[in-house]
Amino acid sequence: MEDLAYKLVKVTEAAALAAYKLAGLGDEKRADQVAVDAMRTELNSMEIDGTIVIGEGERDSAPMLYIGERVGTGSGHGIDIAVDPLEGTTICAHYKQGAMSVLAAAKKGNFLHAPDVYMEKIAVGKNLPEGVVSLKNSVEENLNSLAKAKGCKISDLIVTILKRDRHNELITKIKNLGARIKLIDDGDVAAVVSLINGNHDMYIGIGGAPEGVLAAAALSSIGGQMEGKLIFDTDRLKERAKSLSIHDTEKIYAIQDMARGESVFIATGVTNGELVDGIKFSQGSCSISSLVILPSKVIKIQTELKVL
Ligand code: FBP
Repeated sequence: MEDLAYKLVKVTEAAALAAYKLAGLGDEKRADQVAVDAMRTELNSMEIDGTIVIGEGERDSAPMLYIGERVGTGSGHGIDIAVDPLEGTTICAHYKQGAMSVLAAAKKGNFLHAPDVYMEKIAVGKNLPEGVVSLKNSVEENLNSLAKAKGCKISDLIVTILKRDRHNELITKIKNLGARIKLIDDGDVAAVVSLINGNHDMYIGIGGAPEGVLAAAALSSIGGQMEGKLIFDTDRLKERAKSLSIHDTEKIYAIQDMARGESVFIATGVTNGELVDGIKFSQGSCSISSLVILPSKVIKIQTELKVL
């Protein structure tokens, strides 16, 4: 896995660099597109037999890195690949904090093939009793149980949540229970994975399902806990679930259902963020920072490129 990780870091580096060149130019779509193009070119040059299982969408709507697309030269062991070439397209377009290029890989069949729908998520860091929080519990039960496990008061806990109207009720509940709330504009992959740094205590709320699987791949390697529930809340989405043979639309996925066995997770910074630094150009060189998460191992990689 570690050898593969060192190869795959070139993929997120290429995507991050391409996106960075458009950071702050206000064009989310183009920033995403150049990241996708760069990632695909790099993946196809690698001696892997890869299949995209989390990608830019279905083949019809996404010409590249679509779900089911084969990447690599076709040699070597078969691997499943989950990608988010530019996580935080809006962040990147407005040169805000925390845009990254993200990829995870595992043995074939080990990632949940999550469709591009929303997912309700809850996550906590490592060294906590199994099942300390759960989507089955009320937010009050979760905060009580987490505070007890951490030997602190609820008012000491920092809960991260995406700033969205759909979370207003949840935010009010958490406020009334006395916990501190860290509201983020975008980027829940970084919000979940940064639980490993201990800078906050819990992530909760609804975000993208593909981002959920990517975050689960990272957290599962280092002993964090996470649950996710796919949201099929309209007739159209219920039909979609049927067409994907998802019969139990209320299922709560444990972290092992989303990322089974060993996996590698890589995030390369586009702009500075909580998890990784962004790309920096200075005096003829360019510095690219990545975070690689492997089973029980976190590696920081810094690549310096000469710029002509
Ligand atoms: P994009 O890079 O696709 O814009 O995703 C950013 C993000 O904030 C994710 O981290 C999160 O899971 C999702 O959007 C939430 O979706 P929405 O913005 O629709 O609430």
